Amino acid sequence: VTQKSAYTTLPSVLLVGPSGAGKTALLTLFERGPLAPAPSEKPTSTAPASPTPTHTSQAPAAVELAVSSDGTSSFRDDLDATGTTAKRFLLIDTPGHAKLRRLALSHLSPAKPSTSPTSSYSATPKSKLKGLVFVLDAAALADGDGLPATAAYLYDVLLALQKRASGAKGSKPPPAIPVLIAANKLDLFTALPAALVKSNLEAELGRIRKTRSRGLLDSGVGADDDVAGAGEGDDWLGEYGSDKFSFKQMLEFDIEVEVIGGSVVGDGPGADRWWKWIGQRI
Ligand code: GTP
Ligand code: MG
Repeated sequence: VTQKSAYTTLPSVLLVGPSGAGKTALLTLFERGPLAPAPSEKPTSTAPASPTPTHTSQAPAAVELAVSSDGTSSFRDDLDATGTTAKRFLLIDTPGHAKLRRLALSHLSPAKPSTSPTSSYSATPKSKLKGLVFVLDAAALADGDGLPATAAYLYDVLLALQKRASGAKGSKPPPAIPVLIAANKLDLFTALPAALVKSNLEAELGRIRKTRSRGLLDSGVGADDDVAGAGEGDDWLGEYGSDKFSFKQMLEFDIEVEVIGGSVVGDGPGADRWWKWIGQRI
């Protein structure tokens, strides 16, 4: 595809998540799909099947991908070769580094100010965002700072989506964006299974919510102060005033959240379920 303008009409899916989670590796896997051997086949000695190791991304990149119109084709299928009618879409990579996340989040604001001329894909307001894939390292969640750091980013992402869905008063909010939490690296024995990833994230997001609302109280905005225009619960994720956070609470804002485990490299469950999730939303 030589015309960049063609991109503007394609639906898109955004990859976000902490640095090292495997976003670029996943994008590479999906992009090279037709070349990658099926899991049952042994990779030949000449063609390494695993994506090349990537370096820390600094700029967002996007690849054009296709799924069959019924959404059931594999990322390994070469739809061009089989002549299958396909739905084309953009998969957009973003950098996970904390200092570069604003760029990723800027994709989520409904009225995109064209800030950076270097990020060509943020200047595609016509491209409809059909889904967001939050990639995380399920092995990193098990130790140290992994869980709080990952959850903090996820909190910001979900809050941005919630604000987008709430919209400005009087204006119709844009279509809600479903979220897939891709619990990656399940090939590693230290990785938490998807169910634990989900419950640990929910607990941690609840903790973050409490901490942030306490910050509000400490700053002098008391629960009893009926501050006009303070926008009750503006920065509160999910059901306002609830004790425990659960992903189901995002449905109140029409935001569907699903946690699915998988792997990009190694001997794990693979990436097919993530691809299927994407294909069904394009
Ligand atoms: P940033 O660009 O810094 O935001 O990171 P990223 O999310 O793009 O991570 P990247 O794709 O560069 O992957 C980081 C490292 O994790 C690479 O060495 C990958 O090979 C490795 N990796 C990715 N997926 C898997 C997986 O499923 N299992 C294992 N074991 N390693 C993986
Ligand atoms: Mg990357």
